[in-house]
Amino acid sequence: MCGIIGYTGSGDAKKKVADGLEILEYRGYDSAGALLLGNGKTEIIKTEGRVSNLKNKLDTLSSNFTTGIGHTRWATHGAPSIKNAHPHRVCGVCLVHNGIIENYKEIKKRLEGKGITFQSETDSEVACALIDSHFKENVHPCVAILMAERELIGSWAFAISFDGYEGELFATRRGSPLHLGKGKDGFYLASDLTALSSFCDEFYTLHESEIAHLFENKALIYTPDGTSTPDWQKNEASYTKADKQGYEHYMLKEINEEPRLVRNALLPYINRGLPDFSSASFSYDLFKDISKIHLVACGSAMHASLLGKHFIESYAKIPTEVFVASEYRYSPPVFEKNTLVILVSQSGETADTIASMKYAKSCGSLTLGIINAPSTTLARESDFCIYTHAGQELAVATTKGYLTQALVLFLFALFLGLGKDKLTENEARELTNKILSVDTPILETIKRQGELSSLASQLVSSPHIFYIGRGIDYYLSCEASLKLKEISYINAQAYEAGELKHGTISLIENGTPVIAFATNEELFDKTVSNLKETKSRGAHTILFTGDFSKSLDGIADECFVLEGKDKIDMIFSLVIALQLLAYECANQKGCEIDRPRNLAKSVTVE
Ligand code: M6R
Repeated sequence: MCGIIGYTGSGDAKKKVADGLEILEYRGYDSAGALLLGNGKTEIIKTEGRVSNLKNKLDTLSSNFTTGIGHTRWATHGAPSIKNAHPHRVCGVCLVHNGIIENYKEIKKRLEGKGITFQSETDSEVACALIDSHFKENVHPCVAILMAERELIGSWAFAISFDGYEGELFATRRGSPLHLGKGKDGFYLASDLTALSSFCDEFYTLHESEIAHLFENKALIYTPDGTSTPDWQKNEASYTKADKQGYEHYMLKEINEEPRLVRNALLPYINRGLPDFSSASFSYDLFKDISKIHLVACGSAMHASLLGKHFIESYAKIPTEVFVASEYRYSPPVFEKNTLVILVSQSGETADTIASMKYAKSCGSLTLGIINAPSTTLARESDFCIYTHAGQELAVATTKGYLTQALVLFLFALFLGLGKDKLTENEARELTNKILSVDTPILETIKRQGELSSLASQLVSSPHIFYIGRGIDYYLSCEASLKLKEISYINAQAYEAGELKHGTISLIENGTPVIAFATNEELFDKTVSNLKETKSRGAHTILFTGDFSKSLDGIADECFVLEGKDKIDMIFSLVIALQLLAYECANQKGCEIDRPRNLAKSVTVE
């Protein structure tokens, strides 16, 4: 993970580095650091924790700096401490790094043998020392970088400063993203385009075989074939200054955006009441021979993919498998002829999902990204891309990102179903209309935050909780348990309702909360029986279900009747309820909701 920013020009480097890091903080917040240069002065400042700590320290520096590199860290090698914070300096080289150097131990041993001592436990400092060892051979910085890259294994984006090259920055990448930006007052480097959006109208995404060399007034690209200037493109990314708009947390603000986002996500892909993805540059013809689908993603995006599997198999009858992206290449997947591989990702930069996309392409499969963040690696490099239009998501726990992925997958399932003649035009039209109307149950559920807060108060002192459901309710249980775990630190496990009694039920003790989801009337009795099995063993039972004109008396200790009239309404009502329940638990426990411990918004390392 980690976020990188770099600047050289006539402007205030200190401010640009600090502002850029603030935008990049979602990539990790274990520590932050900056190297600032100008007017013959050099400062390296490092702080633990959030970027605001670094900003406070930077504010105490009075000098003007014209060149800087900054870093916000998600620790991989070495504890989150000042010692391990970036930038790392070894003799004449100072760098910041995003990625993982897999062979750092061997290189470290070799360099230690040559008398080099290391200050940190990081793989990044080893890369810095390796570049410096070549730089010492009196070669140009680009040559030193190139020689080091030939020895490194792993993934990296480096922003580097070399002694004797004041006012100049160097950058290179392999696997991790890095963009150059051209602003009115200089040149920039950043891990993502949003960090460049307030400074630069033009950007260039560095290719893996290139080394960038930035001066105050020019930018050069070196490749083994020669030197060129970047092929600048217009920067469409935008960054809205973080603003909670009166909400206590970004997560709550983002949940409250969800009713409005239903239309945002769906309307670009609906024409005359039917799914139409021509704005994503494809028609049904592209998929007419598809006989199998793989959905590949991580975390909540993988849980949204499970919903996608349910929708695709229900409406298009195409066999669909869901894979955790970090396992995809190793499972190994069976590619039948005409397998479509769909990569689902809010950030578009999740390393394992990117690696899966590359793997699928190398196996000859057609790839389709379902992505929120524009101009990201997955959006650019998938064969086709559907944007989910959720807008910037700042809370680490995804809410609107997950919802919009599920909505788009629903519509895509109708699109395939219609194309494959598994749905009539009328059925597809009705279902398209239906999905557009789920903003109402979503909004009505948000209004019931108070009820969910009372339920949360029954959960906060429990060390562990079980969520159970059948079919799509199990898939929703998976997301419910992840959401609760990641922000409230309460251990939660999701189980297929019928599976609990095959072992795990032995964990149920007096008062253990068991939460059942039952959005499908046909499965209601079975799920309730499973819930009762836990009640007989002392569980505190909570049921989220629909208004099925069944008596709910005595069926569970607590019941939350979901909004809406049919299964689809209830599924989306439940999406909101599970998010608010997790939010309320975390809030009541006083957790840092938007920035949970040990996490980062975008997981850019494998
Ligand atoms: O950006 P992506 O959708 O690829 O991210 C995938 C997961 O890292 C993400 O959904 C994660 O599980 C969230 N923190 C869950 O809230």
